[in-house]
Amino acid sequence: MKQNIKDAYNKLGHEYYKARKYKKGISHFYNECLEMPTTLRLLGNVKSKKILDVGCGPGIYARILSENGAKVKGIDISKRLIEIANKEAPESEFTIGNAEELPYKDKEFDIVMSALMLGHIEDWNKIFSEIKRVLKHKGIFVFSINNPIVLKTVKRNWFFKTFDEITDYFNEGWIHSKWSGEITGQKTSTVVSEHHKTYGTIVRVILNNGFEILDYEDSKPILSSKKNYPKQYIKTINRPNFCTWKVQKK
Ligand SMILES: C[S@@+](CC[C@H](N)C(=O)[O-])C[C@H]1O[C@@H](n2cnc3c(N)ncnc32)[C@H](O)[C@@H]1O
Repeated sequence: MKQNIKDAYNKLGHEYYKARKYKKGISHFYNECLEMPTTLRLLGNVKSKKILDVGCGPGIYARILSENGAKVKGIDISKRLIEIANKEAPESEFTIGNAEELPYKDKEFDIVMSALMLGHIEDWNKIFSEIKRVLKHKGIFVFSINNPIVLKTVKRNWFFKTFDEITDYFNEGWIHSKWSGEITGQKTSTVVSEHHKTYGTIVRVILNNGFEILDYEDSKPILSSKKNYPKQYIKTINRPNFCTWKVQKK
């Protein structure tokens, strides 16, 4: 599965970045107006902090965190995205690599963050133990994922009305979705896979790996997006597409 995910991001890397930057696009709304504000809020004041961004993608977080006074390193499995990250955030240091084998020293970072990357991993234990190793004592790990409840919600039609129904929630495993022109901006499409876990499994991984939970937030769109993205705003103001967790090394 790791190879498929790496291939998908190498194939779509450029389009993914373009779509993120295109201010009228759906990706811009879901990332910049919905996921990022929640995750940045939980990251808090990053001035002078040494931060590692795991699954850093095109380096958009690295650029923002550096602008706010942090010293950022980033790692990502996609060579294509690391090439983009080097241009997006030239003051940061990026490495092509797997999140399960972090090439950093013990206790190197104050904060580790990971936005929308863990969903691509089946077993989180190796990553959590690596992140614990590279964090300083009482270091913070902030990560976002697709909200498990939303991943398992489907649309049902009933007497001319459409309802959301949670289905198959306890069945953990891979969900495959097609990323097509709407998300990537390009004509071809690619299958991107996401591993669904229940909240119970996530909490257990956090606690079993020597972290405690400090905070949690379901995503809500920023008010200023209401004007440019009225449809998406209404859809997500009552539907927590993403969630961000803030945990601390014990
Ligand atoms: C949805 S993108 C998010 C990118 C970035 N965090 C952001 O929010 O802008 C997921 C990223 O995780 C990376 N990724 C997936 N599996 C990985 C792994 N095992 N190790 C490192 N990076 C990985 C992908 O290459 C991709 O850049």
